Amino acid sequence: MSRTYQAQVQECVRFIAPRLTAPPEWGIILGTGQGLWADRLEGGGSLAYAKLPYFPPATSPSHQGRLAWGRMSGREVLLWQGRFHAYEGYDLRQVTFPVRVMAGLGVKTLVVTNAAGGLNPLFQAGDLMLICDHLNLIGDNPLVGDNLDAWGPRFPDMSQVYDRGLRVAAENAARRLSLTLRQGVYVAVKGPSLETPAETRFLRLIGADAVGMSTVPEVIAAVHAGLRVLGISVISNLNLPDAMAPIAIEAIIDTVARAEPQLVELLQGVMQEVS
Ligand code: HPA
Repeated sequence: MSRTYQAQVQECVRFIAPRLTAPPEWGIILGTGQGLWADRLEGGGSLAYAKLPYFPPATSPSHQGRLAWGRMSGREVLLWQGRFHAYEGYDLRQVTFPVRVMAGLGVKTLVVTNAAGGLNPLFQAGDLMLICDHLNLIGDNPLVGDNLDAWGPRFPDMSQVYDRGLRVAAENAARRLSLTLRQGVYVAVKGPSLETPAETRFLRLIGADAVGMSTVPEVIAAVHAGLRVLGISVISNLNLPDAMAPIAIEAIIDTVARAEPQLVELLQGVMQEVS
């Protein structure tokens, strides 16, 4: 980790910390089409990413580019409305900058959400999927380069990335709320082009249930930083190699927006379940 990157993270932490109403326990990074949640936060505030030191602008469609905070289900939450992707041309240090800032602010639990294409033929558009494991096909890793030992180990263990306790809590919350919750492996690709039928068949063959262009870099940085991680995908479209249909980003955003109330309910349920 370069000294400048570390210094930039520290400066951003020093900028945000005094503006928060309380030390945050949970961090949530929202994906494509998910942005309405700030309404659920009690007694907090928000800042545009453009106001945060060293923050790149969020350029993706339907990513608001706003950091909000407040209480949700009795927890102090930091809510990142919009993320950075490798396909926007950002390197993975930039993509994972919010995770480093969260770790610096004392966040202990990270929730990552995204929109993903379903590869498992049993899934339907609009389903929620608990991420059980991931495949990194971005072709890069946010930990490449010098390791900053104060932030985490050189070779972080990845044998249990998605916290078992949080997964059980998500299953329990889904049962209690009568929500359908799928489970599966998320594969991250760089994008921005979507997958060909041959690529789709390949991704299914190597064990993926859903494909997207995000999440895995942030999760790797979070594991490195010792955070416990919960990941939820909204299946925004179904990709079946023998019946490929064109995918429009507008349709993805629309499906995700329709699934958003269930996603909010589920996450509030998880927060109530775990200590
Ligand atoms: N492929 C890749 N990324 C995605 C998709 C997809 O089908 N849907 C939403 N994000």
